[in-house]
Amino acid sequence: MTHHVNFKGEKAVPVEERQTILQASLAAGIPHYHACGGKGQCTTCRVLVLEGQEKLTPPTVLEQAIKKVKKFPDNVRLACQSRVNGEGVAVQRLIRDEIDRFIFVDDTEDSFTTVMGESRKLALFFIDIRDFTPFVERSLPFDVIHIMRRIFALFKNAITQYDGEIIDTAGDGLYAVFGLNSRIKQAANSAVLAGLKILSDLRIFNNTYMRPYFNHTFEVGIGVHVGKVVVGNVGIGLSHNLTVMGFPVNIAARLQAATKELNNSFVISAVAYRLLKNPPYSVGCNYLNLKGVSTPYEVRLIGKPYEIKDTPVLPETRQV
Ligand code: FES
Repeated sequence: MTHHVNFKGEKAVPVEERQTILQASLAAGIPHYHACGGKGQCTTCRVLVLEGQEKLTPPTVLEQAIKKVKKFPDNVRLACQSRVNGEGVAVQRLIRDEIDRFIFVDDTEDSFTTVMGESRKLALFFIDIRDFTPFVERSLPFDVIHIMRRIFALFKNAITQYDGEIIDTAGDGLYAVFGLNSRIKQAANSAVLAGLKILSDLRIFNNTYMRPYFNHTFEVGIGVHVGKVVVGNVGIGLSHNLTVMGFPVNIAARLQAATKELNNSFVISAVAYRLLKNPPYSVGCNYLNLKGVSTPYEVRLIGKPYEIKDTPVLPETRQV
């Protein structure tokens, strides 16, 4: 049976029995935001029910969970989780300003069904150059840029060789993910292989280039974790501008940060380590207290202890 829902200030749309309010509004051409693709995992499709609340199906389990976390009142419903049982329902979309419209949908018909993000299981990889600041302080700016380009090329080469994707760079570090085109086991293995390749390539780079030409050697810290994250696109007109968010990302970043205190260049969560086909030797298992995690977090150390860093600075030479 077909009912109708009146979208205040927009139009009345027909809703079939099997359709959600979101499906009906999109079918009727309303640019109704739906960042998670109608999976009950965001709040962008929410509507305020003005009339006929009793004609809607009860909130699904997913909707109940979101309403509880967000403390939404009873008359705020997720359009993608609500179906209609009768006439007399009037709603108002709650997210509908022009900037949102520009970001979430363009005016092509296809865009109404575009999913702005999806939930994926990925391997998350953070790497940071240790003690970069002292090098910057005693080097010429163009030398610093030159060296950074060399080191980041080395990172990129290993990451892309193992089918990883660089998501972001910040200062002397970067963040990459593995598993956009593979399953999680493969992703974890690839992340570890890329990390080990970087450690090995960096050793060669230090011995053959950095030490002889710049009297300096670099070390890095790597953190790897796996988990369910949301992959989306925050760019406007830049389809490659991927962003990956979720609590596992924070954990991976904290593992990378912990490399210093653990005195090991490669820290991987035990969860990720268990996925490895040929796990590298790990120096026992450690437990870390991570912010936001109630119990100590089990990790494996698969890198090397840091070397003593005090590379003697050569006396300045006069150029002729
Ligand atoms: S579209 Fe995400 S919850 Fe409805």
